[in-house]
Amino acid sequence: MTQAVSVRPMDTVDIGAVVHIDERISGSYRPETWERRIGYYLRRDPDAALVAEVGEQVVGFMLGEVRSGEFGLEEATGWIEVLGVDPDHRGRAIGRHLATAMLTHFRSLGATSVRTLVNEDMKGIEKFFVSLGFEPAPLKPLVMALGPESAKP
Ligand SMILES: CC(C)(COP(=O)(O)OP(=O)(O)OC[C@H]1O[C@@H](n2cnc3c(N)ncnc32)[C@H](O)[C@@H]1OP(=O)(O)O)[C@@H](O)C(=O)NCCC(=O)NCCS
Repeated sequence: MTQAVSVRPMDTVDIGAVVHIDERISGSYRPETWERRIGYYLRRDPDAALVAEVGEQVVGFMLGEVRSGEFGLEEATGWIEVLGVDPDHRGRAIGRHLATAMLTHFRSLGATSVRTLVNEDMKGIEKFFVSLGFEPAPLKPLVMALGPESAKP
C-alpha cells in the first residue's frame, strides 16, 4: 500500500533529515552548512520552510520566501530557492505536494507569481517545474567571477 504524503513546516529537529537527503543527492555530508542555511530561512519566514513526510520519515524539503522590489519586479513574488526529495521516494508526487503547500503559503502572503532559477545542466529539475506550470521568464541571470581586488573594474 502506498503511504500518504504530508507536508508541514520545518523545525530545527529536521536538520538531520535534510542533511541526509542532501548527502544522498550531492554526495557531500554538510551538517554545518544546513544548520546555518535552515536557521537563516527559519528566521526569514518559518512557514516557507517545509518538509514532506511519509509515515514518520522526512523524505523531502523546500525552502523559499516572498519578496518584492528586486530585479525590477515590484510585485510580491514567491521564490522557491532550495528543494530536495530523497532519491528513494521520487516520482511519487512528493515534490508536487511540497510545491502545492508552498504556493498556498505564497498566495496567503499576497504573492501574484512564483519564480525560481534552475541550472541549465539540471534538466530533471527544470522538467519538474515545467510540469507544475512554470514557464521560461524574461529575467536573465548574469555572473562574473571575482578575481583579486586589483582586477577590473
Ligand atoms: C526535482 C525533484 C524535487 C522532483 O521530486 P519528485 O518528488 O520526484 O517529483 P514529483 O513526483 O512530485 O513530480 C512532479 C512532476 O514532475 C515531473 N518530474 C519530476 N522529476 C522529473 C525528472 N527528473 N524528469 C522529468 N520529469 C520529472 C514528474 O513526472 C511529475 O510530472 P506529472 O505530475 O506531470 O506526471 C527531485 O527529483 C529532486 O530532489 N531532485 C534533486 C534536487 C536538487 O538537486 N536539489 C539541490 C539543488 S536546489
